Amino acid sequence: MASKKKNIRATNRAAGAAASVARGGTPEPLRKLRISDVYTAFPRQKKFHESTAKYRLFGGAAGPGKTKALLWEAIRQAHDHARIDTLLLRRTFPELETSLLSYFRRDVPREMYASYNDSKHVVTWLNGSTTRFGYSASESDIYQYQGAEFTFIGIDELTLFTLGQWQFLTSRNRCTHADVQPNMAGATNPGNIGHAWVKALWVDKRPAPGMDRPGQYDPEDYAFIRATLADNPLYKDDADYLKTLDALPRHLRQAFLVGDWNVFAGQYFDLFDVRRHTARAERLGIETWWPRWISVDWGFEHPSAVYWHAARPDGAVLTYREFVANHLSPRMLGQAIAERSLDAEGRFERIAEVYLSPDAYARRSSESTIAEQLGDVLAQNGLPRPAPADDDRVGGWMFLYQMLEQEQWVIADSCARLIECLPTLTRDPANVEDVLKSSGDDPADSARYGLKTRLAPGRAPAERRVAERITAVDATSRAIWMQKFMAEERRASRSVPVPHRW
Ligand SMILES: Nc1ncnc2c1ncn2[C@@H]1O[C@H](COP(=O)(O)OP(=O)(O)O)[C@@H](O)[C@H]1O
Ligand SMILES: [Mg+2]
Repeated sequence: MASKKKNIRATNRAAGAAASVARGGTPEPLRKLRISDVYTAFPRQKKFHESTAKYRLFGGAAGPGKTKALLWEAIRQAHDHARIDTLLLRRTFPELETSLLSYFRRDVPREMYASYNDSKHVVTWLNGSTTRFGYSASESDIYQYQGAEFTFIGIDELTLFTLGQWQFLTSRNRCTHADVQPNMAGATNPGNIGHAWVKALWVDKRPAPGMDRPGQYDPEDYAFIRATLADNPLYKDDADYLKTLDALPRHLRQAFLVGDWNVFAGQYFDLFDVRRHTARAERLGIETWWPRWISVDWGFEHPSAVYWHAARPDGAVLTYREFVANHLSPRMLGQAIAERSLDAEGRFERIAEVYLSPDAYARRSSESTIAEQLGDVLAQNGLPRPAPADDDRVGGWMFLYQMLEQEQWVIADSCARLIECLPTLTRDPANVEDVLKSSGDDPADSARYGLKTRLAPGRAPAERRVAERITAVDATSRAIWMQKFMAEERRASRSVPVPHRW
């Protein structure tokens, strides 16, 4: 082990010296163009390249050059050793296109590689080594790499991945050359679905909850090379970029700008796990006769968020379709909802109800309300007019939490905005039972309207509930009964787990 580490260190020292590894009949051009001719690492990037840890994490904040460093790390290792395979991953193909692949096309001169297979996204370097660009949009897409082995695996925006995907990839991180130590690296901002496990392994240096064989966790294997925007000389003084970051909600700004991994400490849905709570849409097995309904959080500058839900006979809710868009008039939104309320065969779905955010019922001047305008278009298309959603925030969030805990709420993986949004919600320090309002919470608000209104509509005031159950007429016995009843209710609600984070 120690000698292998030394070996990596030696090759790291030779980073950039591509020509020195182009031995054994490697064609001439590699000698001419060195990595150092094309890429000069910024000082923090250099620290990342020099780290000898088996699993490195680079960044932890926006903009220091994480993606670029990851790309050149794969290229460097592919050049350092002949005939090895390397893999670079992003969660989805569009993201891969606009990050790693576009940097490869933009920054790597043609004479540095032998060929590029455009359909498989595989570069073959002059020494026979390869770099494959891949993605794993759904949880199980990762198994496409089942039969493959990669000496280096680099994962961009690692917190978009799940612990399960990471663990599977570690099993693919192998090398048949005895003198080469396989290794992996991630680059990321804090937040998102993978926040908790990434923070555990690299920031807190302890096994991640839910990890297979936590006893085998060796903190020595994990190195966190912290970098922030200030480590990128191109961005440091870029007023526009800083302005964009400054406009983010406070907790996201803390996370992205200074790389504060604790801002999600008050994460509300700390139990959210894509493996338990999401599924491929076609796997949900929704039958045509199951009740369906729609929830809408109306917005114009902020996006409108629309979800389609179905109730399984056992009471579980399947949220199976998403539509999020801004700058649509109420009528345009109604049209968009109607056009999407079709099943796989293109037939109109039977929608029982549409729940709409209560603020859409506000009457402005003489014009009809948003709810009326939206309702007109829905009605013209054979859909129900909207009903005002139950906006009990605290009860609603708690209800969503319980549904997730009991695995009674499953979200189709096509509802990307909702899946992305849930793990970023934090508790409101002013009212810890509530979620802190932030821009970008519209998908969660809409889902809350959908589940709470349909399945746990607001309860009547305590007095009325007592009146329904207590028949005693004299004031004293009523007071005693009332106390007993309220205590009972409190006890019942205490069994509701209060979400917390370590
Ligand atoms: N070493 C470098 N030399 C020149 N430009 C760089 C370097 N590292 C990053 N950049 C540029 O800085 C910008 C941000 O880099 P990127 O890798 O996308 O950052 P991040 O992934 O951390 O957001 C990109 O335009 C990238 O090309
Ligand atoms: Mg990036």
